[in-house]
Amino acid sequence: MRDLAFYRDKKILITGHSGFKGSWLCTILTLAGADVSGYALESPTMPSLFAQTGLADKIYSIAGDVRNREALLRAVREAEPEIVFHLAAQPLVRLSYREPAETYETNVMGTVNVLEAVRLCPSVRSFVNVTTDKVYENKEWHWGYRENENLCGFDPYSNSKSCSELATYSYRNSFFNDAKVCAVSTARAGNVIGGGDWSKDRIIPDCVRAALAGETIIVRNPCSVRPYQHVLDCLSGYLLLAEKQWADKTLAGNYNFGPDEEDCVTTGAIVDLFCDAWGGGLGWTTEGPGVQPYESTFLKLDCSKAKKELNWKPRWNIRQAIEKTVEFSKLKTDAERADCVERQIKEYW
Ligand SMILES: NC(=O)c1ccc[n+]([C@@H]2O[C@H](COP(=O)([O-])OP(=O)(O)OC[C@H]3O[C@@H](n4cnc5c(N)ncnc54)[C@H](O)[C@@H]3O)[C@@H](O)[C@H]2O)c1
Repeated sequence: MRDLAFYRDKKILITGHSGFKGSWLCTILTLAGADVSGYALESPTMPSLFAQTGLADKIYSIAGDVRNREALLRAVREAEPEIVFHLAAQPLVRLSYREPAETYETNVMGTVNVLEAVRLCPSVRSFVNVTTDKVYENKEWHWGYRENENLCGFDPYSNSKSCSELATYSYRNSFFNDAKVCAVSTARAGNVIGGGDWSKDRIIPDCVRAALAGETIIVRNPCSVRPYQHVLDCLSGYLLLAEKQWADKTLAGNYNFGPDEEDCVTTGAIVDLFCDAWGGGLGWTTEGPGVQPYESTFLKLDCSKAKKELNWKPRWNIRQAIEKTVEFSKLKTDAERADCVERQIKEYW
């Protein structure tokens, strides 16, 4: 954990700490010796990685809604964080088709409320707003999107995250330009996989559920290409960004964090890797096209900026990412799962 020495004794606030990425991030930061608080609604899934890893006893966890500005301001003032990671969101494309207004409320006004809390809390020196690879206007081309390309997600989830980017842009220009105030960035990561994601309508959780039930996996869009990466690769990007912009505010901006080119594969290829790693003759089938709400076919990120400016690079390829996920998903007890998360973090760093 040498690379995380910067975080020792730092006061960190994470919104969305009770979710999948938030639980991994809390665990990394507690292992690094940080003083961690979280602000979020209850874990969105049952089971949840947050409960399975016993995080409620390891961090200061505040139950709250990012749409409630007053409660959020109070929580941030009390925590007096030096670094804030904003992860709280309605993060599912298909749910956003069913609940578009709620998705915008959480992802857009929720972000504005977090920006407002950061603006009004002078202890914060570094802020990272976590958006997504889906913020770009998707041109269905084969090249990776760069940070300076047009922001205009298609579906309500993706579009709400494009709006979250725009709100952050405005706050940065309007309130955070002075070199002495907080450094503000956005982080656009690819599709994340790893142990403990129990969300609906995501391919790896769908694979795990089918494998545990001894059923055939159903794959909705086997030909779509996505930048799949292990959750630790994406979180290492957020952590490096928050650290580097703390020391040099000119680095604040927008950053893509995705896998290398050879790891941008089709969903079908990912599921093949999962079936191989799981063993036992696990297989998959597909639902016919035409019954699904629109999702883009090609999506890749160009991560040259993060590599050049932050010296970040992915460490685990897609096969390793799947193997680590399978390792976790076969465990039977929460004690084993908590150990596994810590072991994988120590292996990674
Ligand atoms: N998982 C991925 O593949 C992926 C890819 C790109 C970007 N992201 C982004 O990363 C972030 C975390 O995603 P995740 O996969 O951990 O999601 P998750 O659903 O596991 O966790 C979401 C978190 O947000 C909290 N939350 C939701 N609505 C809230 C509200 N109104 N007020 C307060 N808290 C609220 C939940 O309680 C939970 O803690 C999100 O911003 C998501 O858009 C995720």
